[in-house]
Amino acid sequence: MDWGLKNRLSRMIKPTTGKSVMLAVDHGYFMGPTHGLEVPRTTIAPLLPYCDALALTRGVLRNCVDPGADVPILLRVSGGASVVGEDLSHEDITTSMEEAIRLNVAGVAMSVFIGSAHEHPTLVNLGKLVDEGERFGIPVVGITAVGKELQKRDSRYLSLASRLCAEMGAHVIKTYYCEEGFDKVVEGCPAPIVVAGGPKFKSDKEALELAHHAIEIGAVGVDMGRNIWQSEHPVAMIRGIRAIVHDKATVKEALDVMAEARQSAPRALSPTSPRPRASRG
Ligand code: 5RP
Repeated sequence: MDWGLKNRLSRMIKPTTGKSVMLAVDHGYFMGPTHGLEVPRTTIAPLLPYCDALALTRGVLRNCVDPGADVPILLRVSGGASVVGEDLSHEDITTSMEEAIRLNVAGVAMSVFIGSAHEHPTLVNLGKLVDEGERFGIPVVGITAVGKELQKRDSRYLSLASRLCAEMGAHVIKTYYCEEGFDKVVEGCPAPIVVAGGPKFKSDKEALELAHHAIEIGAVGVDMGRNIWQSEHPVAMIRGIRAIVHDKATVKEALDVMAEARQSAPRALSPTSPRPRASRG
């Protein structure tokens, strides 16, 4: 690996712990203004101090993140399908490496859809993106997307998909945690793995447990979205996740970190939440 690429990688995966808490706020590229992310600037701002990288599209980056913010950017460069369209897997590269360099990113990320009608082009695109990444010193994160088929998240599928991304040369693999056989996913993947959180769990504790298991088994971090910013206490939640990822906290200890953080951080108030009534004067 060239110096520039290693340097960018180490901005996201912290050399002090070898771990990373990436905050995923890229969902709008196919979901639109999804719950909790209606006004990205409002969602992102309080969480910025607690993430090691911010995963998003160029549109949200330019419009909703202060260019003075000291946060490594993981730029999503694939897209082209929507949640209401015929085929979620029909993605292509939508942002050039030149644009990524202009935006001074720490890495780029794209989805591949193994087993879908678009497996071939997404895998070939990943290979090409890695070529460009190597040329300019930009790490590439390969995302093993599952579209709407969440049942695909078994260890056999995730091992295959993660391994394919690593074989294409991706520097980091973002995949899902699975309760059975996640050790096989990690073992069979020669590149470091970060796990997505997936749809919001009923409780924050379940998301902490997911992070804890994934780290214990060998993931180098999380790239988590909805379980952080759809939590009633997003700042407390990301702080709990950090405790697990960077400080080897147990779930109980992370819950304690959250309880303490809740004392000082305000609750999430999305634009669709009922607003407190103005008191009459
Ligand atoms: C969207 C993504 C997300 O970044 C990824 O799924 C992580 O977010 P979440 O924890 O909400 O699943 O790749 O396509």
